[in-house]
Amino acid sequence: MDLGLTNRTAFVAGASKGLGWATARELAQEGCRVAICSRDGDRIASAAEEIREETDAEVLPLVCDVTSTDQVEAAIAQTVDTFGGLHVLVTNAGGPPSGGATEMDLQDYRDAVELNLMSTIALCDAALPHLRTAAAEDDHARIIMVTSVSAKQPIPTLALSNTARAGVQGYAKSLAEDVGDTGMTVNTVLPGYTRTQRLEDLAEDIQVETGQSYDEIEAGWAHENALPRIGDPEEFAAAVAFLASKRAGYVTGTALSVDGGRSKHVL
Ligand SMILES: NC(=O)c1ccc[n+]([C@@H]2O[C@H](COP(=O)([O-])OP(=O)(O)OC[C@H]3O[C@@H](n4cnc5c(N)ncnc54)[C@H](OP(=O)(O)O)[C@@H]3O)[C@@H](O)[C@H]2O)c1
Repeated sequence: MDLGLTNRTAFVAGASKGLGWATARELAQEGCRVAICSRDGDRIASAAEEIREETDAEVLPLVCDVTSTDQVEAAIAQTVDTFGGLHVLVTNAGGPPSGGATEMDLQDYRDAVELNLMSTIALCDAALPHLRTAAAEDDHARIIMVTSVSAKQPIPTLALSNTARAGVQGYAKSLAEDVGDTGMTVNTVLPGYTRTQRLEDLAEDIQVETGQSYDEIEAGWAHENALPRIGDPEEFAAAVAFLASKRAGYVTGTALSVDGGRSKHVL
């Protein structure tokens, strides 16, 4: 299937490694020019170089903390200045610390909302004028928000994530309605247990708490899924690429789980 992504421009946040990096590489492989951002200048520069080596795509590395509205606005502006427009926005960041609802204080909740919800809104806010232009010119403008399986089926030890991601889901549905008349689509993608640094960090927390080995923890996670294994970032990225594509023009307001069947609800 031709995804129709050749010569499109994509911005992927939180993309020096993990799900963001795999998504940026996938979009580059499909023919996109990609701007990628993270907080660490060295890491994002080498992440961009790796994508260039693998794909020959034009890749723009940007230092941007997505919790800073000024930095987000500057990064989107630099992307448009460099590539001449924007067709695809992928919102993403790191995950908040683990812990139960009563273990967290108010500041923890505020920080998590800034990191995962407000950053999403700020990125969309900055990108929307350019995406509206793309929708009007090319009928191809897409927003994909990376959230978590915890938005559909909360994870008791991830209260901050459960809380902030639910807000993103509500925002995505609202935005999809507001921009639908332009042809722009807005969707969320909900990763389950996927092999990245974030998963290793969560495993370390559990190790400290329970004394279990990494293998035991991973086997427990895999056992929760219909497909009894941990996912690969490439599998996640493929789903994002489809939603970013020209071919996904009638898919909006959806929350797509890429979780190996971890979510147990019917719909
Ligand atoms: N992997 C999983 O199993 C899984 C499951 C469910 C949900 N998720 C969620 O999916 C998202 C991505 O996960 P991941 O596994 O790819 O995480 P990861 O391996 O920790 O990578 C996070 C990426 O985001 C960047 N980042 C972190 N904070 C940022 C900020 N404030 N501004 C800009 N960039 C920032 C990091 O780079 P710098 O440090 O250089 O900024 C890095 O490139 C996270 O929100 C995570 O909680 C992951």
